[in-house]
Amino acid sequence: MCGIFGIVTNKQQPLGSILTDAARRLTYRGYDSVGAATISDDGTIDLRKDVGRVDDVAAKYNFAEMSGRRGITQLRWATFGEPSQINAQPHLDSDGDMVGAHNGNVVNNVELRQQFIAEGMTVRSQNDGETCVHAVERYVNKGYDIIDAIRLAYGDLAGDYAFVIGRVNDDRLYAFKKGSGLVVGIGELPAAGNPGGSTFTCVSSDLPSILPLTRKIVRIQDGEIVTLWPDHVEVRSVKDGKCINREPEIVTETMDAVQKGGYPHFMLKEIHEQPQVAREVLHLLEGSRDVETMLNKMKSARHLYFIGCGTSYHACLAGAVFFAQLAGRAVIPVLAPQFVPQYAPAVSHEDVGLFVSQSGETKDVLNALQIAEQRGMTCFGLANVIGSTLTKSTACWLPLCCGYEISVPATKTFTNQIVTFLYLAYRMAGRDTRELEKIPELMGQTLEETAPQIAAIAGEINRWNDLYCLGYGANYAIALEGALKLKEITYAHCEGMLSTEFKHGPLSAVSKGYPVIFVAPPEDVPLIVSGINEVTCRGGRAIAIGEADSSLSANASDMIVIPKSNPAINPLLAVLPLQLLSYHMSVARGYDPDFPRNLSKTLTVD
Ligand code: G6P
Repeated sequence: MCGIFGIVTNKQQPLGSILTDAARRLTYRGYDSVGAATISDDGTIDLRKDVGRVDDVAAKYNFAEMSGRRGITQLRWATFGEPSQINAQPHLDSDGDMVGAHNGNVVNNVELRQQFIAEGMTVRSQNDGETCVHAVERYVNKGYDIIDAIRLAYGDLAGDYAFVIGRVNDDRLYAFKKGSGLVVGIGELPAAGNPGGSTFTCVSSDLPSILPLTRKIVRIQDGEIVTLWPDHVEVRSVKDGKCINREPEIVTETMDAVQKGGYPHFMLKEIHEQPQVAREVLHLLEGSRDVETMLNKMKSARHLYFIGCGTSYHACLAGAVFFAQLAGRAVIPVLAPQFVPQYAPAVSHEDVGLFVSQSGETKDVLNALQIAEQRGMTCFGLANVIGSTLTKSTACWLPLCCGYEISVPATKTFTNQIVTFLYLAYRMAGRDTRELEKIPELMGQTLEETAPQIAAIAGEINRWNDLYCLGYGANYAIALEGALKLKEITYAHCEGMLSTEFKHGPLSAVSKGYPVIFVAPPEDVPLIVSGINEVTCRGGRAIAIGEADSSLSANASDMIVIPKSNPAINPLLAVLPLQLLSYHMSVARGYDPDFPRNLSKTLTVD
């Protein structure tokens, strides 16, 4: 999830500081590389970029001296191609008279790059932003006018992305989008240091990068191309090239509110981003050759291990159940530090380990990885931060495609880990992965339908500082994850447990009103109904999360209904109300769920 910003002004002027400021305002999304390009009246493009922090790269390459009539800046969050100067954006076309940058992911990047090379274009990087530039160049070279070239390129580029492009000897910038956000601003630059002032239009993936410049904006929709002149913009449909009338609107929210997408906390924003990032990771997995490499090795492995810590370990647990149930393949899920004494002495080159980590920097995971490698095990990675130590140290890795997760409690990275495990299990089983395309919509529906009830229950059980969250099968992992979320941000003690184990001891904790949450997929209902009654007959409050079921609602104290889905998808939906519950309880207690006390997002210590 990178960030882009482009600006068009009515006269040649210093643009370096405007671009640097806009880039700074995109940093909250997370990034590894920065770049800027300006296009001058004399037909030249000045392109400067590298890996590093905005201020460091801007100082090293003296962005301040960059001038032009149009400019583009980009912050890169690596997915295709490691973080490096060549992969940083913006990118030039083959002969250097067009420059563009994107955010998001073009999932047929590898195939398109091969086509461009075969067609004689100069492909310099592995990055999909460059692919967007060549996708337009291909049709410009064939003689299409720029709008038609973009329309055709749009059809070739699969994935979720937004893209901005400019060229020499043309006083406009062009931008279009599919799946990712894109917003246009219209205004005037202040006269200070800019005699006479000047009009401008700009475009960005993110409203915060525009707001200090103007509050007059136009939102671009999927399948639309926007042309930016210095004083106005024109929106066209990709389908037929016809103009679309779209009146500008005036934004009134504060910068802080806008950065949080209008939500009061990043956690709530990230919870609601889950359907979209699930869609993105599914697209990426469909186009990934690394999936093939991993599956081939996994199929022939003697033993297969899924290794992680905290939330990532919970995803490993669910993944192991998916692999067994869907593909008949036994997997050993293990907490990274315990891998060292329990399995590392016994592994060899015949075994495969998938190391899972949001940050890719968790020391416990890296320690286990190092020992596994020394033993000759084939080591794969699943990480959100590309360019992290985990992705640099594994033979092959898959990205989680979540963008920066700011809130300390992991939400969207967890569900995309689960989506990835599901996808791998489906592929391992030779099942049609199109079934998984329903996931984003079902997730959105779950969030929408359960939110009001969850908020009410949170208020009712919030006086308890001790509770349980129970599940079975893949939903055992979900119960553990729900309990971890509750512990992390409410500071209450919440134990996640296999539902069948509750009667073997913890049942003694139950008293009047004591909350016990049951994650209850349809196939476990008979089993879970017994557990529910063991709680309710002792005065406890049994809260069931499951699909509509008369037996569950008749027995549980509260029934949180999630949409009906394929049994494999159910755990992915069941975790959403638990995330919301922990969020509401945390806020009601007056805590900041984004930054819980004592915890760190990335633990780089033993
Ligand atoms: C820390 C975080 C947890 C996270 C765990 C593993 O403890 O507070 O939220 O689940 O590390 O992090 P990773 O980046 O490896 O997934």
